[in-house]
Amino acid sequence: MPEPAPLNLASHAARRARLADWLGDGIAVVATAPEAVRNRDTHYPYRFDSYFYHLTGFTEPEAVLVVVGGMSPRAILFCRDKDETREIWDGFRYGPAAAQTAFGFDEAHAIAELDARLPDLLGNRARLAWAIGDSPAWDARMLGWLNAVRGKARQGIAAPAELLDVRTCLDELRLVKDAHELDVMRRSAAIASEAHRRAMRATRPGRREYEVEAELLHAFCAGGAQAPAYASIVAGGGNACVLHYVANRDTLRDGDLLLIDAGCELDGYASDITRTFPVNGKFSAAQKDAYEIVLAAQTAAIAAVRPGAAWIAPHDAAVRVLTQGMVDLGLLKGEVDGLIESNAYNRFYMHRTGHWLGLDVHDAGEYKRDGDWRPLLPGNVLTVEPGLYIRPADDVPAAFHNIGIRIEDDVAVTASGADVLTSPPKTVSEIETWMQG
Ligand code: GLY
Ligand code: MN
Ligand code: MN
Repeated sequence: MPEPAPLNLASHAARRARLADWLGDGIAVVATAPEAVRNRDTHYPYRFDSYFYHLTGFTEPEAVLVVVGGMSPRAILFCRDKDETREIWDGFRYGPAAAQTAFGFDEAHAIAELDARLPDLLGNRARLAWAIGDSPAWDARMLGWLNAVRGKARQGIAAPAELLDVRTCLDELRLVKDAHELDVMRRSAAIASEAHRRAMRATRPGRREYEVEAELLHAFCAGGAQAPAYASIVAGGGNACVLHYVANRDTLRDGDLLLIDAGCELDGYASDITRTFPVNGKFSAAQKDAYEIVLAAQTAAIAAVRPGAAWIAPHDAAVRVLTQGMVDLGLLKGEVDGLIESNAYNRFYMHRTGHWLGLDVHDAGEYKRDGDWRPLLPGNVLTVEPGLYIRPADDVPAAFHNIGIRIEDDVAVTASGADVLTSPPKTVSEIETWMQG
């Protein structure tokens, strides 16, 4: 049996208290994710809802959290009953009584009681919050309960007049990671870093992209991660110029680069790393020239990560270095400022330099506030991932055709700067030395 994820009750309880404060005299309903059929009677591996998990630490399907705000705040879990027969087939389930004690809820009930209890809980509350629009089926249930309360008007029971999206509050909570989350993310990053080191060592001409993917999966599992955080990209040669390449079937060729974008999920938290390196272990002159530009862009972007800096500062720093590099390599002609202004660099660099990272690989949280890029805060975690993608064209020097490079690390904003969580070999000499080992 795999070990259960270590519980961190204080963090989950603190988040529920913040939600209760935000609600005032209101109530929030947060459901976990449904199970999903893959085909016939086989399901996808179950993954809880990230918001629900952030508030509870509870990983079973068929569970709903109700948080009541106001003068006497309460957290109520609805979950599956104990069921000896189902537990013989599918494994342990807590049941409401044990879940209440183990996870520190004020109350817990069987999920089958949700329809009966929700209208009473909603009565005389000023506002009701849920993830509005996330699931049509769930919206319909919420509105059904709301109408059930409205049906009690003649008993003097008022329905909530205000409907709020609970994610307005929860996204902000998820943006700033606490010490426990940072610890889990550091461990997720360490497992993924080891996976990249292993994959680099296993790469050689003639192997298939999926054989290298197998090395990543081995390291994720052996390191204790529960799953890849997203479909791994193992892209040899020109496949690296397809940003979301996940087929991973081609044969790796001598003289090509290999781009690997892969991270794992540990106890809910994602890592997200990209490395690009030569299939034969030695960069050609053109590959090295292009690689050094992306590396310099990433170094400049990471240097721009610090508390108070605008979210977009690392991207702007990377774009400047990349655009200068495109001119130096003969990919673009003109002044750097003008090429940035006109977005001409988009031909070879068409994505942003990063995203929030956390329970979701593209994590929750806004990037702008009132029209301005938001300032970075200690506890934010983001990726820094500049790239250069050079498709063959008549006006592009042939030596650079089909070179696709991205370098991606996971970075935590600290009180004074940035902490890079990920660590596979990155410079040309680190990569070449590691691959010779
Ligand atoms: N692996 C997804 C991304 O880098 O954003
Ligand atoms: Mn990535
Ligand atoms: Mn990423």
